Amino acid sequence: MSKKPATGKKVNIVDLQKKCYKGEPISMVTAYDLSSARLVDAAGIDMILVGDSLGMVMLGYKTTVPVTMDEMVHHAKAVAKGAKRAFLVGDLPFMSYQADRAEAIRNAGRMLKEGLMDAVKLEGGGQDTATIRSMVAAGIPVMGHIGLTPQNISQLGGYRIQGRTAESAQRLLEDALALEEAGCFAIVLELVPAAVAQIVTDKLRIPTIGIGAGNGCAGQVLVYHDMLGLFDDFEPRFVKRYAQLGPTIKKALEQYRDDVSSRRFPAQEHTYDIPEDELEAFSKRVDD
Ligand code: KIV
Repeated sequence: MSKKPATGKKVNIVDLQKKCYKGEPISMVTAYDLSSARLVDAAGIDMILVGDSLGMVMLGYKTTVPVTMDEMVHHAKAVAKGAKRAFLVGDLPFMSYQADRAEAIRNAGRMLKEGLMDAVKLEGGGQDTATIRSMVAAGIPVMGHIGLTPQNISQLGGYRIQGRTAESAQRLLEDALALEEAGCFAIVLELVPAAVAQIVTDKLRIPTIGIGAGNGCAGQVLVYHDMLGLFDDFEPRFVKRYAQLGPTIKKALEQYRDDVSSRRFPAQEHTYDIPEDELEAFSKRVDD
């Protein structure tokens, strides 16, 4: 594994906007720790999302709802140490921005000051754009997230495709326009029909980043553990598995277990020597 982070200029919001205007797709992948961040960064991915999906793939929660601000900041810090080039976005977890505007701004600020992220992401449509306006006014870049919003999974009645009727598609477009107007620099569209995502993308000046939203978005995002076959609790249709690391890792661990049981590991090349005369002197001491 290469330990060196990717070299090159750090990606910023203007670079992302330029890519969008030129019609060059933007790539984004989640990361939750130093090692995954180094790999994503070294692969030349434009943006890293420290997603609250970490609650499920790293912390074992059933949904993203229990994730706390402290947990997000803890993982964000580790990612920031590993990524030198990618633009870094940290998710604001459930109830860190909904109840109180001042608290929301402080939490968003924490994600930048302590988590060392470049921007925050929050879920939801145009219903409370005042909070987003205040964050942007405070100098905090904000990414929106509409369509399927996992923090509202109970309200939505499960992981369902959003915007499948003319009315809900219209609402989605209005939400996207409201988020753009409020100052978001980009918007995640999750689990939305491709044709709807395309229309929303065409109506916006800011980039849309799709997940389960077809090929017409300005960019794409996938969860690291899903695309690499490290988490198989769900296998949604929109995920492409680029590797099956889970079975590979399990096989390696089984080989290690067998090597330990049979004393094949550690072999000579994994072992340190003591000079012959020192060993002799030591043995003598032990025997005396
Ligand atoms: O938390 C996350 O990983 C996300 C992506 C699914 C966009 O929000």
